[in-house]
Amino acid sequence: MPASGHDAITIRPSILYFGTPVALITTLDERGAANITPMSSVWALDDRLVLGLSGQSQGCANLLRSGEAVVNLPDPPLHAAIERIARTTGRAPVPDFKRAMGYRHEADKFTLGGFTRAAAQVVAPPRIAECPLQLEARLLHARGATPGPADHAHDPGFIVIELAVVRVHAHPDIVLDGTQHVDTARWSPLLYVFRHYFGTGERRGRNFRAET
Ligand SMILES: Cc1cc2nc3c(=O)[nH]c(=O)nc-3n(C[C@H](O)[C@H](O)[C@H](O)COP(=O)(O)O)c2cc1C
Repeated sequence: MPASGHDAITIRPSILYFGTPVALITTLDERGAANITPMSSVWALDDRLVLGLSGQSQGCANLLRSGEAVVNLPDPPLHAAIERIARTTGRAPVPDFKRAMGYRHEADKFTLGGFTRAAAQVVAPPRIAECPLQLEARLLHARGATPGPADHAHDPGFIVIELAVVRVHAHPDIVLDGTQHVDTARWSPLLYVFRHYFGTGERRGRNFRAET
């Protein structure tokens, strides 16, 4: 049969990151040291967030222990700062599968990435001042996801985490004057698309419930 424009072929991509916003999760360890976990498996529903985090990450351990985090949402210009901390973990010793991928331990990702701490109001972990949106959040539920293949290149298991957002901070320049609304002409999330960074383009339309 001849191929039409709507035919699809089967492929086996190494990852399925089809495009989700990057979030920088800030957490505190048991000694009160702040960590930053770059991640992109996050989505929001009302005031809830669902995160997918490696059970081997320091950020996940901190969040499950303390029950608190700030979900900081960077904009596209921050991609280079994020890459500066990308190949590091707050965990020591570094898990074997990560060491094999070239990760190293880093106790102070704020300094390494050039990020600035800002005190949160409700939870203990700091906000990242450079991120235009910062969501303070508390842990509601966590459950282990089905483990993947445990070899040198794969994470042995992920945790699905539900958070309640308890306070939202926004840079004033992305808020519509005199409203509680984010100005979508000025705010762009940083998207992670098959391990490449993108911003958003022109608005293509609006939902019937959009208030602005
Ligand atoms: C842009 C980006 C997106 C990522 N997305 C995720 C993710 O969704 N879940 C996850 O567990 N790790 C993700 N990672 C990998 C973690 O950042 C990495 O495991 C890091 O070492 C965790 O740091 P920590 O151990 O100090 O918490 C991502 C990394 C980058 C740079």
